[in-house]
Amino acid sequence: MRPIIFVLLLLALVACGSASAANRPTPNPVAVGGRIFTIQCGACHTISDVSSATLGPRLSSMFARAKAQPDPATWLRLAITNPTAETAPGYQLVMPTSYGQSLSPAQLDALVTYMLKVGGT
Ligand code: HEC
Repeated sequence: MRPIIFVLLLLALVACGSASAANRPTPNPVAVGGRIFTIQCGACHTISDVSSATLGPRLSSMFARAKAQPDPATWLRLAITNPTAETAPGYQLVMPTSYGQSLSPAQLDALVTYMLKVGGT
């Protein structure tokens, strides 16, 4: 193959690659947060009456407590990253204290967005 054709082919390939990256939809934070909640939190917190997890308060009750705060998102984030700072009455302090390290800021944002969106429904 002549070098010029090879270079043109390479350029075409690079152009295709960047075009498809630009067209890729950005992940929906509610969907991302829902996945994290189900996997990481669902053993203790229920989303609906279907699950039998009872170690922690259910999502609707956490939503109600968050909505009563001046800044619900900040309150939820604190409750997730520092569970001893925000203690739900009547529950044991067994929630892991590591989410501030194990979840990225973007994952925490998605989680809070999900809880505020789905918790009231
Ligand atoms: C091992 C069980 C367990 C896991 C896993 C767990 N939690 Fe908890 N969580 C609890 C318990 C028990 C409480 C109540 C005591 C307290 O407030 O710390 C609680 C409290 C909370 C509160 C505060 C509720 C209130 O009304 O004060 C929030 C918000 C919360 N959890 C969110 C989460 C999220 C989000 C995850 C997943 C990233 C998660 N929890 C994972 C057990 C758990």
